Amino acid sequence: MNRITFLFNIKYPIIQGGMIWNSGYKLASAVSNAGGLGLIGAGSMYPEVLREHIQKCKKATNKPFGVNVPMLYPNVEEIMNIIVDEGVKIVFTSAGNPKTWTNWLKERGITVVHVVSSSKFALKAQEAGVDAVVAEGFEAGGHNGREETTTLTLIPMVKKQIQIPLIAAGGIATGKAMHAAMILGADGVQMGTRFAMTFESSAHQAFKDTLVASQEGDTYLTLKELAPVRLIKNDFFNQVQSAYEKCATKEDLITLLGRARAKKGMFEGDLVEGELEIGQIVGLIDQIQSVDEVVTEIMNDFNQSLKTTFDF
Ligand SMILES: Cc1cc2nc3c(=O)[nH]c(=O)nc-3n(C[C@H](O)[C@H](O)[C@H](O)COP(=O)(O)O)c2cc1C
Repeated sequence: MNRITFLFNIKYPIIQGGMIWNSGYKLASAVSNAGGLGLIGAGSMYPEVLREHIQKCKKATNKPFGVNVPMLYPNVEEIMNIIVDEGVKIVFTSAGNPKTWTNWLKERGITVVHVVSSSKFALKAQEAGVDAVVAEGFEAGGHNGREETTTLTLIPMVKKQIQIPLIAAGGIATGKAMHAAMILGADGVQMGTRFAMTFESSAHQAFKDTLVASQEGDTYLTLKELAPVRLIKNDFFNQVQSAYEKCATKEDLITLLGRARAKKGMFEGDLVEGELEIGQIVGLIDQIQSVDEVVTEIMNDFNQSLKTTFDF
């Protein structure tokens, strides 16, 4: 047992990151059943859809699971009320100020974790009273920090600043990487890309096929003026790059992005016009597997890595 398995009452310190359009109750419950911590991604759900997913998740697992709430989306208050109403005990907040909801959630007996991309914000999260921090490096899929701090750099720096449990994220998809993150000071890891590439992810098959085919260098962190996001370099991405070449203003970018691009790409499988969010480590994974297979493989790899010795 370590600080993360103790905090969440789980077997392995592996957290499946909340992922819009990928992490519904099927993925979250499968990860929790496999011994990790599954998170329902509320960011792509209307409040009543979230309620349905929580209720289905409770039926699909008797293990702990949580909900990820990106605070940049509307309806946050309604979402938080549903979480309390449905008796969810773990919330991961992201994309916002940890002060806004931490006390309110903790007063209602909920364990709160906040996602950050710098040691400055890790410290702020600790001061806000969260139970743990996810420190996410520049490699990660989805929305990201503006500074390009990699996981290898970020983890030891955050570790130096905070005393509460630390979860590393960004570029971690194997047991070896998990071991490396833990050597650097993490108590556990959060993975997104690896779990997006499972049968249980709710993403469209065409998106999953694209992920399997993706290679090293196929993603890029863009739209830093809006909310920085790591995308696969598809047609939509090229439109964004052309807009930059024409010195697009922030307003131009907002217009180009429009609405529901992420849904179009990841959920509806429009590989041309959609936004395809994924992490750099997509280049390492070349198949879609079940969550069970993924967790077993990661833990075998982790245990093997523990036995590694180096001769000089
Ligand atoms: C498709 C996708 C969607 C994501 N959506 C969210 C989200 O809604 N909220 C959030 O806090 N993080 C989100 N993330 C980040 C993940 O929770 C996780 O921290 C990240 O994927 C870890 O890096 P990795 O992709 O290298 O494993 C998303 C990541 C991906 C790949």
